[in-house]
Amino acid sequence: MTDLRSDTRDTAAAGRAPDAPGRAPEYVRAIAPYVGGKPIDELARELRLDPLSIVKLASNENPRGPGPRVREAVAAAAAELPRYPDGNGYALKHALAARHARSMDEIVLGNGSNDVLELVAQAFLRPGDETVYSRHAFIVYPLATQARGARGIEVPAHRYGHDLDAMRAAITPKTRIVFVANPNNPTGTWLAAGAIEAFVASIPRDVVVVVDEAYDDYLDPPQRSPAIGWIGRYPHLVVTRTFSKAFGLAGLRVGYGVMDRAVAGLLNRVRQPFNVNALAQAAALAALADTGYVEESRRINREGMRSLEEGFAALGLEWLASRGNFVLVRVGDAMRVYQALLERGVIVRPVANYGLPEWLRVTVGVPAENARFLTALGEALAAARGSADG
Ligand SMILES: Cc1ncc(COP(=O)(O)O)c(C=O)c1O
Repeated sequence: MTDLRSDTRDTAAAGRAPDAPGRAPEYVRAIAPYVGGKPIDELARELRLDPLSIVKLASNENPRGPGPRVREAVAAAAAELPRYPDGNGYALKHALAARHARSMDEIVLGNGSNDVLELVAQAFLRPGDETVYSRHAFIVYPLATQARGARGIEVPAHRYGHDLDAMRAAITPKTRIVFVANPNNPTGTWLAAGAIEAFVASIPRDVVVVVDEAYDDYLDPPQRSPAIGWIGRYPHLVVTRTFSKAFGLAGLRVGYGVMDRAVAGLLNRVRQPFNVNALAQAAALAALADTGYVEESRRINREGMRSLEEGFAALGLEWLASRGNFVLVRVGDAMRVYQALLERGVIVRPVANYGLPEWLRVTVGVPAENARFLTALGEALAAARGSADG
């Protein structure tokens, strides 16, 4: 990718006008582009591997994918492809309103919950405004902030998690949005509902508080967040959820936010008219109805997490206890170990861009994937040590 941060075409000094890229706002050119998990097909091409032999545990997807009822719903919805989708997402919002005991006009659908995070930034940020988020928090918060010319205030973490008191203290009259990921990606840290509600209650009402609950469905029922139920009390609260994780629909891109209807009205003004496609709406609707499938995914995740933790312990590695479907493990020279894993057909995620250069983030897979990863990890650590010695 072209690095536009030091774009030599921005050359007023050289006596000629900059071309189009040089005219983009400086704050856009300064963005370090998002780097996702390496796609399976890319690694297959590079190493001439059979894509089916590759294990990808790099993007916190549900390794089971969607259930059979969802697949049927998607196949049926394919008949509607010539038409635009329902731009208001009536059926899906209706089902979500019933699920959360809220009204439809408090719900905004998104092309993934990432879209909803972007919509909040688009609706509330002007150049010069500020947002507040934690160190090691989900990287879309700084990206969405920078894209509007706003300034992100990154608050030091407390044991890799959010320090809510310090985040509150970082708010200034310029602050428009505070982002809290619970559980957080990539650290897997989590805060109980009482702490989150006390935080929301303590934030000035002219600052939007986004509580990002992308991984809430992986929590055990007693820990599941009640935050959507607080919407009536807190007009500055936005809660985001997704179908990409426990529901297994990452490829379709569908998520949502629940918020005061006045805030929803603002987000609807700036969103694309058809931001959630027809297949995604049909799939999400079917996925919501299939509660047993998510329950089973949660059980498989819990058991997979346990086997990864046992594997890390056997290898003498440190890891961070995680409430999500992923876990951070400390491997030393993480880029070297990442490469050695790639050579063994296993894709995980380096997290140096989150300020964690010694760690790898591993998504919990199905049992065979976890076993394959742990074997490859043992080999990769030995190979990385060998090449460091040699
Ligand atoms: C904390 C968090 N929030 C939001 C998202 C966005 O997910 P999606 O856009 O697929 O809903 C992710 C994805 O990894 C995430 O980890």
